[in-house]
Amino acid sequence: MIASPPRIGGLDVEAWGDPEDPVVLLVGAPERLSADWKRSVRALVEAGRHVLLTRGGEDEFALRQALVEMSSRPAILCAAEALPVVAPALAVTGPALASCLIVVGEASADALAALNGLPVLIVARDAEDETIDAAQVGFLEEQAPREALHYQAGSDPRTLRDALGCFATGVTVVTTTDEEGRPVGLTANSFSSVSLDPPLILFCLARSSSNLERFRQAEHFAINVLHIGQQPMSGAFARSNAERFEGVVWEAWETGAPILSGSLASFECATHQVVEAGDHLVFIGRVTRARFEPRRDPLLYFRGRYRRLHFA
Ligand SMILES: Cc1cc2nc3c(=O)[nH]c(=O)nc-3n(C[C@H](O)[C@H](O)[C@H](O)COP(=O)(O)O)c2cc1C
Repeated sequence: MIASPPRIGGLDVEAWGDPEDPVVLLVGAPERLSADWKRSVRALVEAGRHVLLTRGGEDEFALRQALVEMSSRPAILCAAEALPVVAPALAVTGPALASCLIVVGEASADALAALNGLPVLIVARDAEDETIDAAQVGFLEEQAPREALHYQAGSDPRTLRDALGCFATGVTVVTTTDEEGRPVGLTANSFSSVSLDPPLILFCLARSSSNLERFRQAEHFAINVLHIGQQPMSGAFARSNAERFEGVVWEAWETGAPILSGSLASFECATHQVVEAGDHLVFIGRVTRARFEPRRDPLLYFRGRYRRLHFA
């Protein structure tokens, strides 16, 4: 079944299969479809995929624009010859634009290096047709599942974690001081605003945190909202046994809780309430002072990965 030919971001596209199914974008198809491409399209449609086929004219900018305009992140399938167009289109922000990439043929590691963790499957051209199809479909089921996933009480916590990971957040480093005034801190994305009057915010701290008692004892803490350039800092403050403050420029305001220089925003708080909640403690703080930077972009966290704002 061929639907009416859509155009996406200036690319001519032919569509196959049910538009309700998850999309696989085939890039770099020849003008006259070879038997291999036809078989690939058929196998994907039979496996419940909506296949879009770009028909020439794609360069890295047109392809990137098409990906930006799509309502969901497609899986991309291309021949290795199309990698010089596909790889730059997916550079750095790859995981934000596509769910995964399947390359048929010889793909150089260099070409794939800039894809920033985008899952990639490389299929050898000389493999049996059935082997290629099975590998593609298995990979797609894993990286771009067709069915919505479900969690029910009693299911494994990993599924709940994945469900919760659908809520995109910013990233913060929460800090305080220990009994000797030394700085302590950890990466946390459980930050939320609570109330404007009085000015309250919260973050949740795992009971397993080595800093639990320090946060409980201190009567203050600070939340530092990270900008896109502070991703290494987020990594450092989430690693155990790391000298987290080594090389970090920070200042103290009234309470001494470290205010990390250059953060997108910093909130100094007096601890207002600590609520026990399962395997975490909820720290509610009353904001006594805040500073924020009006221009920089935030560091984002979504589905277990760092992301950046992407304006269409
Ligand atoms: C993006 C991100 C967000 C996190 N959010 C939280 C959080 O909200 N609460 C928490 O207790 N740990 C969170 N963690 C995990 C801690 O940063 C990590 O476990 C850290 O090693 C704890 O250090 P500690 O035991 O010294 O407190 C997060 C980690 C990352 C990478």
